[in-house]
Amino acid sequence: MSANSWHESLEKNIGFMMVLILLVVSVAMMVEILPLFFQKSTTEPVAGLKPRTALQLAGRDIYQREGCYNCHSQMVRPFRAETERYGHYSVAGEFVYDHPFQWGSKRTGPDLARVGGRYSDDWHRTHLNNPRDVVPESNMPAYTLLANTAVAGDDLGAHMSTLRALGVPYTDADIAGAAQAVAGKTELDAVIAYLQSLGTVIKSTR
Ligand code: HEC
Repeated sequence: MSANSWHESLEKNIGFMMVLILLVVSVAMMVEILPLFFQKSTTEPVAGLKPRTALQLAGRDIYQREGCYNCHSQMVRPFRAETERYGHYSVAGEFVYDHPFQWGSKRTGPDLARVGGRYSDDWHRTHLNNPRDVVPESNMPAYTLLANTAVAGDDLGAHMSTLRALGVPYTDADIAGAAQAVAGKTELDAVIAYLQSLGTVIKSTR
């Protein structure tokens, strides 16, 4: 028998091998991932972070419904090429009220983590209605219908109380007033309110 025959028999005993692999993976997870659930820097909101208003939340729902995340990430990585283009890199505490977060990695279009305040509402209005009107070479789809569709506010309160159960500090008044707060607004208003809120808590260094 060679010196490493124990290894040979281990490799041939696939059941035992799987148990050992699971063991290694769980230890690695406990060491690498579990601490992140308890570290302040990853679980506590950055100073000044507020829960989204009813209109911003409705806009976020539309952002997800329309699949904007298929082309846009929302996370500035801590590299010079990124921070010079987009501003301060993203930190975990900016996303603690996002369920689910929209980090992503697919960038057909630019990262949007700090797009809030970069353009005027009017720019967004024109851009979302037909991107080519402001960026001639754009291949982003036109979202013409948003301007003609009223925000559906009836389930926003329920959405907010679910988020509250997950730790987002909405008040009873926020929840009760949600439908009223978006009355008369269009989906375009909501998406723009959402975009303008993105990444504004940490001041851009750009
Ligand atoms: C097929 C890919 C694609 C989809 C889907 C898409 N975009 Fe874009 N987006 C782009 C590209 C490419 C650009 C860069 C050219 C331009 O400004 O139009 C862009 C630019 C932008 C910008 C300007 C960003 C900047 O910093 O200049 C915003 C804001 C934006 N998109 C929002 C949205 C929203 C909101 C949605 C969903 C309703 C969406 N996009 C869906 C591809 C896409």
